[in-house]
Amino acid sequence: MKFTIPQPNSRTALIGMTGSGKTTLARSFLTKYYRYVVVYDVKGQMKSADWPGYVIYKDFEKLIKAKDERLIYQPNIHEIPDEKNWDYAERFFKWIYLRRNTVLYVDEVYGCTGRDYIPFYFRAILTRGRERGITCLMATQRPSLIPQFILSESENYYVFKLQMPQDKKKIEEIKGFSVDSLNKLKRYEFLIADEVEHSERPRKIKLGE
Ligand SMILES: Nc1ncnc2c1ncn2[C@@H]1O[C@H](COP(=O)(O)OP(=O)(O)OP(=O)(O)O)[C@@H](O)[C@H]1O
Ligand SMILES: [Mg+2]
Repeated sequence: MKFTIPQPNSRTALIGMTGSGKTTLARSFLTKYYRYVVVYDVKGQMKSADWPGYVIYKDFEKLIKAKDERLIYQPNIHEIPDEKNWDYAERFFKWIYLRRNTVLYVDEVYGCTGRDYIPFYFRAILTRGRERGITCLMATQRPSLIPQFILSESENYYVFKLQMPQDKKKIEEIKGFSVDSLNKLKRYEFLIADEVEHSERPRKIKLGE
């Protein structure tokens, strides 16, 4: 890869419209560079074949007893009437917080936050994760619809193509990438702002890289 990868104990936001390449980039990091990983797949769409080395759990009680190094948790949100039932998210993030030394990937932040609501222990991970050895990667399609706190706590950004004007404006405000440079991004291309560099030069990974 010709760019930096998220450093241990940092927080990273992957932002872009649906199909822009967020999960693919995250997966590339998570299958190569980190060892103890937990993926929170609230959409429940990940398949083992795409995630070599990962074991998928749908049952929380089994997840927390698992000995595997790399785990995917797919909460069964279809069994509960309200898909934004926060209990699911709360107990999951509490477990990560207490577990320490974990790379956490939240595949769609919008699936476990409200406009102004962040699960208590997700917030704790964002503010105190560094000292607890928790590295956090988070993907979102709609940066203007998730709590600002999540974006402002992130030190690394990978910004893909965005569709909605309010999302581009948000990224311009918060990270300084111009709407113009965001408009020029092609499919699967992204801009990087992290602790090492901040540039408007579009990047793209090759699949399998
Ligand atoms: N760099 C790339 N080169 C070629 N194909 C890619 C690349 N990145 C992603 N794709 C393909 O594009 C499709 C969408 O990518 P991906 O699932 O990563 O998008 P996403 O941003 O996570 O979308 P969503 O928000 O809907 O989850 C996938 O089929 C993936 O294989
Ligand atoms: Mg995705």
